[in-house]
Amino acid sequence: MKKLYKVAVIAGDGIGPEVLREGIKVLHKAAEADGSFGFEFTHFPWGCEYYLKQGRMMAEDGLEQLKKFDAVYLGAAGYPGVPDHVSLWDLLLKIRKGFNQYINLRPIRLLEGAPCPLKGVAKEQIDMLVIRENSEGEYAGKGDWLYEGQPHEVVLQTGVFSRTGTERVIRYAFEEARKQGKSLTSISKGNAMNYSGVFWDQVFEEIAAEYPDVKTYSYLVDAAAMFFVKEPWRFEIVVTTNLFGDILTDLGAAIAGGMGLAAGANINPEREFPSMFEPIHGSAPDIAGKGIANPLAAIWSASQMLEFFGNKEWAERILEAIEEVMVEGSVLTPDMGGTSRTEDVGNAVADSIGNVKILNHAQ
Ligand code: NAD
Ligand code: IPM
Ligand code: MN
Repeated sequence: MKKLYKVAVIAGDGIGPEVLREGIKVLHKAAEADGSFGFEFTHFPWGCEYYLKQGRMMAEDGLEQLKKFDAVYLGAAGYPGVPDHVSLWDLLLKIRKGFNQYINLRPIRLLEGAPCPLKGVAKEQIDMLVIRENSEGEYAGKGDWLYEGQPHEVVLQTGVFSRTGTERVIRYAFEEARKQGKSLTSISKGNAMNYSGVFWDQVFEEIAAEYPDVKTYSYLVDAAAMFFVKEPWRFEIVVTTNLFGDILTDLGAAIAGGMGLAAGANINPEREFPSMFEPIHGSAPDIAGKGIANPLAAIWSASQMLEFFGNKEWAERILEAIEEVMVEGSVLTPDMGGTSRTEDVGNAVADSIGNVKILNHAQ
């Protein structure tokens, strides 16, 4: 029996639809080449255009509609004309929080052929997995705006660090480090953030005691940002808070091929709700509609989806296909120094996958 994966597609705004089209193409190609699985994609028209007509970013029962899918594949949300805090809180963040996707997996790995702005850095020297807390922390959305518009106005943005929320992401990271036989680095700010930073570090130490086999490091975020650039090989598995993870993974993207290549997975480890796969970049209004967005990040996140479904072989194969296209080097979008279009890059990856008929699994 062929396994059918049901995937909800929220292409969203700007370059979102342009890059997801290529990811979907590659997933279909993988399914076709393998023969034992397939995809059924259901498209949801949610995003800023929907908002301008309906006054909301997604249907009122949107989460209910998404619940029955095996995964959500998301392009990007946000576009000039709708305030960013509205578009993001009513779609992306609503799904991450509503589906308890408290783990955000962001690989920072220098693939073969990817452009690296750091001098003299070899491929194996940038290979980390950033595990970003994805449900609370600095992005809990709590606070207040007092005396708005008056000279004495006061704005409060409250970080929320629950014991449950902090323990579960750190524990997840320790499990991952143990499974992969790698070191684990915690990144926080326990000097200036005298409540949340201190608490985070304390929980990290408590849980570390349960994993004596895992080598650990702890960095302040400012120093960590510096080492990401100067000595990225220090980091293997990294666990950090919502805000720091957001910033550090754009920095990570920059050292490992650019925003056009960086992928992310929003995981609900209990599988009580669907998990969501997306490029970590936004809707890129500056290049939207020109057909030149790099689809490789969206394609890498499709690979993460397959890995989450337990199909490690195809997850790896897609990454190899991305590498083949980058190493060959003649079909790349302008952000990678090429002159090709989004569609050409998607076709090149799909062709590279199509050339492989037999994988190394048992027949
Ligand atoms: P952005 O990631 O959209 O763009 C930053 C820069 O990177 C731009 O110059 C853009 O052209 C470039 N870039 C990004 N993706 C690229 C790709 N695939 N190929 C080539 N170049 C690419 O970030 P921004 O400009 O800060 O935000 C734009 C909008 O996207 C805002 O509304 C923001 O809130 C939203 N946003 C959404 C998400 C999401 O949906 N996951 C993530 C980040 C930002
Ligand atoms: C990301 C994005 C989002 C985040 C924004 C758009 C809310 O920057 O996925 O990195 O900060 O989580
Ligand atoms: Mn971000």
